[in-house]
Amino acid sequence: PLPSRVKLVDVGPRDGLQNEKQMVPAAVKIELVQRLQNAGLKEIEVTSFVSPKWVPQMADNAEVMAGIARQPGVRYSVLVPNQQGFEAAQKTQPDEIVVFAAASEAFSQRNINCSIAESIERFRPVVAAARAQNMYVRGAISCAVGCPYEGEIAPERVAQVARLMREIGVQHVGVADTIGVGTPLKVQRALEAALQHYGLDEISGHFHDTYGQALANTLAALQLGVWQFDASVAGLGGCPYAKGATGNVATEDVVYLLHGMGIDTGIDLELLVDAGQFISDYLGRKSNSRAATALWTK
Ligand code: HMG
Ligand code: MG
Repeated sequence: PLPSRVKLVDVGPRDGLQNEKQMVPAAVKIELVQRLQNAGLKEIEVTSFVSPKWVPQMADNAEVMAGIARQPGVRYSVLVPNQQGFEAAQKTQPDEIVVFAAASEAFSQRNINCSIAESIERFRPVVAAARAQNMYVRGAISCAVGCPYEGEIAPERVAQVARLMREIGVQHVGVADTIGVGTPLKVQRALEAALQHYGLDEISGHFHDTYGQALANTLAALQLGVWQFDASVAGLGGCPYAKGATGNVATEDVVYLLHGMGIDTGIDLELLVDAGQFISDYLGRKSNSRAATALWTK
């Protein structure tokens, strides 16, 4: 049976806006977060504490965290690649941090400038410090089905990273199809690999929609009992270190899919569409969400 309830994390302010050519002012990001929480999102990935030389789009991380009006019951998460990022992040009191590793060595090098094993060693003290402060620690496993540099990735490699994350105390893993090459059966194999080390309540899907497979992959994940997903309002996003990768699956499209199947999300689709319209208008382009586009033209 499919889950009756799904939790969506909107990663638009982070995954979405990290890849924008134009600099989006902190005030616009803050307004986007506000609109997402008004729409009923219970978790928002706000920003990342990475090097501003690598990702200048996230250089305003502390300003954005300071500017958001936190709502009780909403969790605010941030990406952290190392101890330096954690020290900056903790001052802004996120509810949750996300450490990010890859199932591909080449991608690990391009994205965070170190090997997979080195990344785990970097995360170890970060995870311990975060947990000591009662922050929840999520891990992301990039390139869980395919890598822009290495091609197809075997499920065993996902299992291996999940095992290492479990060992250092990461509480939840997101299985990420960074470049959107996955199809439903391959995505199920990747999720099952992570499920060797994490329970169904500790795993989420993070699907980019480059090849238009993300909704199908979401349904395939639901069929395994996975009930937590990252998505990005208006389908914003992409990773600067994964050439050609487009945005995450649009949150609006996932909500439309789930509500259509009678699965509860707690999200008001109309308000979510408004949030997507707000950021698309700011960026001066059409939304990547098919559902939002259909609903606007009604
Ligand atoms: P590095 O150059 O190897 O770092 O970068 P370093 O430790 O050698 O330090 C070099 C310089 O960076 C120093 O400054 C440090 O202070 C500074 P300098 O002395 O030259 O002036 N530095 C920092 N500054 C601010 N915050 C920090 C920080 N760390 C070092 N945290 C590093 C290593 C990890 C920092 C770099 O590679 C980096 O920032 N990478 C981030 C890449 C990124 O953000 N990628 C996108 C997010 S992941 C993603 O999108 C995938 C996901 O969505 C899932 C999926 O779809 O796959 C999550
Ligand atoms: Mg991503």
